[in-house]
Amino acid sequence: MSKKLEGKVALVTGGTGGIGTAICKRLADAGCRVVTNYRNEEKTQKWRDACKSEGYEIATIKADVSHYLECEALIAQIEKDFGPVDILVNNAGTTRDATFRKMTHEQWAAVISTNLDSVFNVTRPLIQGMMDHGFGRIINISSINGQKGQFGQSNYSAAKAGMHGFTMALAQEVARKGVTVNTISPGYIATEMVMAVSEDVRNKIIAQIPVGRLGEPEEVAYVVECLASEEAAFITGADISINGGQYMT
Ligand code: CAA
Repeated sequence: MSKKLEGKVALVTGGTGGIGTAICKRLADAGCRVVTNYRNEEKTQKWRDACKSEGYEIATIKADVSHYLECEALIAQIEKDFGPVDILVNNAGTTRDATFRKMTHEQWAAVISTNLDSVFNVTRPLIQGMMDHGFGRIINISSINGQKGQFGQSNYSAAKAGMHGFTMALAQEVARKGVTVNTISPGYIATEMVMAVSEDVRNKIIAQIPVGRLGEPEEVAYVVECLASEEAAFITGADISINGGQYMT
């Protein structure tokens, strides 16, 4: 296993989820000191134990990405314990699917705050540090449904499209400081989030994927490692699709 990212500090938000876990492991394999935030103590203890039994030491710090002050404290804690963050993967996300005519304000707000406000909350406290030391990699995990829209996901599609707008704007602001900002838009990946969609709807979705299957979390983690590397310095403001050909931009 190459240790291309040896010594780098990586923060992966929502690291205990399906795609997040694969990203944490991949970055750890590449030599990073990996940290993730969490909300649920019990779930995270089990996750940490499972990672440990596979030889992974992933640091976990309690913080809700939808709360700005908790994110400020999270970044301060990481800087104190491990040093400045070199690689940030804004991966935390949630769904509250409903057709818009039935969607409650709570369903709208929960998705916008966890999926989009979080990007401000986590990135803002660390951006100056990345610019000051002339290196940074920010990778925003968006979705195919931010690119094409999805029936039943006006909240989620809005948040995920917003993430890429953020990517393109911030990429311009920090380009001369050695910091890149990119979006990855996964399609339907075999995680709990996708398995929560009814089987009937899911099968219809799979039928629309030219590769003929759901994606694997590791297939997303592979691209995260590429974008995080020193060699990816000329890739910025991009939106990279990983969707089995389901939607081609
Ligand atoms: N296009 C057009 N019409 C559709 C439709 C579609 N894709 N799906 C359902 N409809 C129609 C139905 O036929 C029905 O029509 P009638 O009223 O004329 O009978 C009507 O819409 C149903 O409307 P309801 O408001 O009653 O919808 P519902 O409550 O039954 O279901 C839903 C809504 C739960 C959101 C369901 O549509 C659904 O599960 N959609 C899939 C959402 C999805 O893909 N989520 C992805 C989660 S994974 C993820 O987000 C990760 C990622 O990044 C990819």
